[in-house]
Amino acid sequence: MDKADLKAEADKALEKAYSPYSNFKVGAAILTESGNLYTGCNVENVSYGLTICAERTAITQAVAKEGPGMKLREVFVANRNENGVSIPCSPCGACRQFIAEFATQETRVHYAGKSGDVTKSVSDLLPDGFTF
Ligand code: THU
Repeated sequence: MDKADLKAEADKALEKAYSPYSNFKVGAAILTESGNLYTGCNVENVSYGLTICAERTAITQAVAKEGPGMKLREVFVANRNENGVSIPCSPCGACRQFIAEFATQETRVHYAGKSGDVTKSVSDLLPDGFTF
């Protein structure tokens, strides 16, 4: 599965978003080291702070299926605003920390930047992140 395929999966996943409060749909598609694909979308809540981002719904599914050894190879995050338009949007801080938990030095994260899609390593996204 190449980057374009992963993007298509993220675009498909965002259609399932439950986002009545922000009207902002996010989809995440992840490819694991085992070669499996998982997708997720944001799931909001009337108690706003309980909202779960797309990246984290995808990663929790991957761990639930593959177990604690799951490692991320590629992550693609796609979005649509209330007008159905993709805007520049990088993973939030909480999701960067969550991605880092299951990343390797080779893990790459793709998302919509200001002039086209951006690809970053996890250490670029979360330099000096928290760890024990
Ligand atoms: N959101 C994500 O799903 N991923 C991110 O990395 C940033 C934000 C969602 C959460 C909320 O449902 C909506 O986008 C607006 O913040």
